[in-house]
Amino acid sequence: MKKMPITKPEESIIKEIEEQRPTYPVGILSRQERDLLIERGARSLYRWYTTRSQKTRNWHPDHSFNWRALRTDHSPEVNTVIEGVYGIENYAPDYTTRATHMLRKSYGRANFQLRWGAEEEKHSDLWLNCMLFMRFRTPEWIEDYMQYLRNGEWQAPWEDPLHLAMYVVIQERATQLTYLNIALFARGESDKPGFEGAADPELVKIAQTIAIDEAAHYNFFLEIARLYLYYFPAQTLDALVETIKHFAMPSVHLLPDGDKFMETMYRGGIYGGREYVTDVLKIALKHLGVNDRRALERGIKRSRQAPGPDGEMRETTFFDGFEYDVVETSVKRLYDRLNEYEEEVGLADIIPTQFVPSGFSGR
Ligand SMILES: [Fe+2]
Ligand SMILES: [Fe+2]
Repeated sequence: MKKMPITKPEESIIKEIEEQRPTYPVGILSRQERDLLIERGARSLYRWYTTRSQKTRNWHPDHSFNWRALRTDHSPEVNTVIEGVYGIENYAPDYTTRATHMLRKSYGRANFQLRWGAEEEKHSDLWLNCMLFMRFRTPEWIEDYMQYLRNGEWQAPWEDPLHLAMYVVIQERATQLTYLNIALFARGESDKPGFEGAADPELVKIAQTIAIDEAAHYNFFLEIARLYLYYFPAQTLDALVETIKHFAMPSVHLLPDGDKFMETMYRGGIYGGREYVTDVLKIALKHLGVNDRRALERGIKRSRQAPGPDGEMRETTFFDGFEYDVVETSVKRLYDRLNEYEEEVGLADIIPTQFVPSGFSGR
């Protein structure tokens, strides 16, 4: 018997079907699959990070600096800044405990927090040495200060891994900027009252060393944030906008004179509202593919769902002020780096971390 020819749909019908399709692309991976991809990425990046960290930033707070060369005649303003940054870094055990616990279900991110904490702890020791060798305060005063700080306890501003992922990007960039500006006045390049005569080569070395660590932290957290943006754009942008709205430097309220410290930072052009907007937010948002924060905040209130191929509602990537393509390019670049690393180690032969397209696309 002759087979019936399959009827070729009329062109107009095809056109009609096409028109009824959502006009924007939707993701095809399940939530679980996307969670796993982020976890695998974080795990591989953590390995890459520790290798690099041990090779390039293996300094010690006691032996990597010439402590006796540090100036002992700095202004009260300089001393206020050093005491304040010590106070903030001194909560490294709290930051580490809270973050590690919050992220305990992610092997990669939780383990990273341990390594991160070990690096932050060195910053605390470094500033402690700095206070001692500057001789502005007696060792007894410093001991009392330390005890006062130990009685306080840092609480995380967010209780979920996604918000934390956004918060740490901004926080690390803010800290890095603070240290770059301390290095700047220590090079004698500040004209702000109290900081204009602060040239101190050893202090430059100290501040620069920590700034490099903070840059490495920023880069790690930035990659994690981009993975979230790539696989969960809608929720991640919501979390990002919320985090920006509520961001504050950690632990300042736990310092005995936190207001004076922030005021001195502000007057010294080290860290304040202006620096936060231009040197922290602007840079971090650009790296996250956000080109217009206001537009993003407005757009975020609109619906971003469309039916997927199976009829289920899925996210779209149409957000005003956000360039999905920028994030996608960065994520692909990250996987190239991870693949190269795993190839070098041999892990690529057994369990390679492979890039999987989200199925979303930009405009
Ligand atoms: Fe730090
Ligand atoms: Fe850091």
